[in-house]
Amino acid sequence: MSIPTATAVDTKIRIRGLTKTFTVPGGHVVTALEDFDLDVPQGQFLTLVGPSGCGKTTFLRMLAGLETPSAGTIELNRGTAGRPENSMVFQGDSIFPWMSVWQNAAYGLTVRGVAKADIKDTVGHYLDATGLTKFADTFPHQLSGGMRQRVSIARAFANDPEILLMDEPFSALDEQNKTLLQAELLRIWDETRKTVVFITHSVDEAVTLSDRIMVMSAQPGRAKAFIDVPFDRPRDVLQLRHQPEYGEIVYDIWSQLKEEVDKAKQQADERVVSSKRSLFRR
Ligand SMILES: Nc1ncnc2c1ncn2[C@@H]1O[C@H](COP(=O)(O)OP(=O)(O)OP(=O)(O)O)[C@@H](O)[C@H]1O
Ligand SMILES: [Mg+2]
Repeated sequence: MSIPTATAVDTKIRIRGLTKTFTVPGGHVVTALEDFDLDVPQGQFLTLVGPSGCGKTTFLRMLAGLETPSAGTIELNRGTAGRPENSMVFQGDSIFPWMSVWQNAAYGLTVRGVAKADIKDTVGHYLDATGLTKFADTFPHQLSGGMRQRVSIARAFANDPEILLMDEPFSALDEQNKTLLQAELLRIWDETRKTVVFITHSVDEAVTLSDRIMVMSAQPGRAKAFIDVPFDRPRDVLQLRHQPEYGEIVYDIWSQLKEEVDKAKQQADERVVSSKRSLFRR
């Protein structure tokens, strides 16, 4: 998958007319995403916000190659040969319980047959960056939820993918752990400047982390609005929240999002009414 035109050279991900439909039991068709266009420049931290069910996870799974589009194209402008296309960090636990912290973080590199000395350097670096060096030999069941999520982040960055896909990685964490991990992610991202596509339900988290935020419409999901986040980097999570423009941007996103959340709620109510009707008809 490559982009042949010179003008698109800085575009890392190019999406055109992307549509995804699912056929659910009973033959009913759900259109999760419809005619969706997006360009993500190389090195951008892009965050998707949108009501539940608008197709955010479906979109990320298609980027990861875990789902096939029903229509449209996804093009990834590949950089260095031999690097993995993507690494995904999911909501909740996605590390292997039978592997130590070190083995988990080294997993992608080991599978690719990277030289042992390079694995040692890279994994050592990211365990350090995520505050896990002391826990290298521990197993996931001996760690807190926040620490397990740190392992996921260390593993994803150590793998050195072309793009990093993160689906609500901090949503299960308490406020303190969330703030700490956001700060760590900001720091590691500054060091690597990877192209990231991140999903969150938290507008604060989106503004804190991103270069650009895409507000998605209620189902079927489309790009409703793009908001650029102008804050300089490196960013300090707490100082950022005291900047006057911070509140303005959060308000702007919330007002765009609220309309879609209301629409999604109405859709859900209508589905309940129609399923009750079909129950009575039986
Ligand atoms: N494998 C599947 N089979 C049938 N329908 C699916 C499947 N995966 C997703 N869907 C439907 O597609 C729509 C989008 O789902 P998706 O999980 O992408 O939403 P989301 O925006 O990630 O929601 P949330 O914010 O709740 O995580 C939903 O209506 C969902 O029920
Ligand atoms: Mg989701």
